[in-house]
Amino acid sequence: MDLFRKKEINTSLEGESHLVKCLSAFDLTLLGIGAIIGAGIFILTGIVAARDAGPGVIFSYIIAGFACVFSALSYAELASSIGGCGSAYGYAYAGFGELIAWIVGWDLLLEYAISVSAVSVGWSSYANDFLLAIKIHIPKDFLYGPSQGGIFNLLACVIIAILTALLMWGVKSSTRVNNMMVMIKLFVVLLFIVIASGEVRLPNWSPFLPFGWEGVIKGASLIFFAYIGFDAVSTAAEEAINPQRDLPIGIIGSLFICTILYIIVAGLLTGIAHYSTLDVASPISHALLALGYKSAASLISVGAVAGLTTVMLVLFYGLTRIVLAMTRDGLLPKIFSKTNSYTHTPVRVIFLCGILMISLAAFISMDVLAELVNVGTLFAFFIVCAGVLYLRYKNPEMHRPFKTPAIPYVPILGMATCLYLIINLPFITLMRFVIWMAIGLVLYFIYGYSHSALAKKQD
Ligand code: ALA
Repeated sequence: MDLFRKKEINTSLEGESHLVKCLSAFDLTLLGIGAIIGAGIFILTGIVAARDAGPGVIFSYIIAGFACVFSALSYAELASSIGGCGSAYGYAYAGFGELIAWIVGWDLLLEYAISVSAVSVGWSSYANDFLLAIKIHIPKDFLYGPSQGGIFNLLACVIIAILTALLMWGVKSSTRVNNMMVMIKLFVVLLFIVIASGEVRLPNWSPFLPFGWEGVIKGASLIFFAYIGFDAVSTAAEEAINPQRDLPIGIIGSLFICTILYIIVAGLLTGIAHYSTLDVASPISHALLALGYKSAASLISVGAVAGLTTVMLVLFYGLTRIVLAMTRDGLLPKIFSKTNSYTHTPVRVIFLCGILMISLAAFISMDVLAELVNVGTLFAFFIVCAGVLYLRYKNPEMHRPFKTPAIPYVPILGMATCLYLIINLPFITLMRFVIWMAIGLVLYFIYGYSHSALAKKQD
């Protein structure tokens, strides 16, 4: 049995599918921002401040940001030199062989699919606020899943269905929608910063660390969710016009912009409202409402709906590309990998993923979904950092248009910070992750191992 058969590294970054090359460095950066700024900043900042870190949530953001910066540099190196639409899955295939690649791919399916479902559940609360404001009342049974006393979450299903249609229609039109929505999102974040800068009350920052450093670290493990998304840029490698130059710009640029915005917003939010008042569904608009800024609060809610929509759009896009890469390699059934000749998009993959995510979002609550996302993502980041180190040693001659600086320190620090955040997650989350991965291994041995394209080639 050869569990570590490897694909040859194709540094031309040409894929086997016929995805249209239409994304510029600007599109890729907005793709990243579209995926990053979302439920984390709009919802989790308040929750983490109130329950775990107090105003020290700013440190939680800085710590989680470090884990992401180290990983982003590693992603940039592998995305620009190995490429492919499979992201960490593709890099693991080239670096560590098929079994590890399958493990990473299966893990990424968890990360992306559950992220979309989790954010759609958060989106449904904001959208419901908006509907209430225009006097449309949806019965409670159709606002929540069974664990929260409802039947199913109708709005979460509706938004995923709309995004499914949009992605099936074609990547360029989705990118245009994404760019526009990202602009709206940046506008409302900047609006908050401008208003809040004049309203900070210093007593709100005292005590700064009400739950000590322990709370700050626990908060960092959760707030990490806010940064997820920059890795989705790497899944667009085959649609980038100039991937070797533009992927690193998209990955690092989007993370840099979001990190700065997050730190400012977290500082200001806990400066304009006492942290203990922020454990609400929409903390940012809630804090502004409390200060009497009614129209700004409504604008920000609308911006949040747009913001969460772009997060789902980009993550959904990334998910379909990873499934595509895995089907091409024969590890998942090939029937899904065909792109449609009219839209040039992998319509079957998109449709299937849409149905699966609707099933999760309809019945499962956001907290259960979101916890799992973080562990899956941290695990993928860990493997990517390890991959950079391993390939530098195993394949030193490989063409690397972008090189991670300060080798071996950056990838090692990336691995250490990811591991640290993983062990600070709840035990039950780690167990759920182990079960998911065990199911993946069984599937690999039942299907993937024997259907692998690489195995057939070797035979
Ligand atoms: N970073 C994304 C968000 O905060 C997943 O919604």
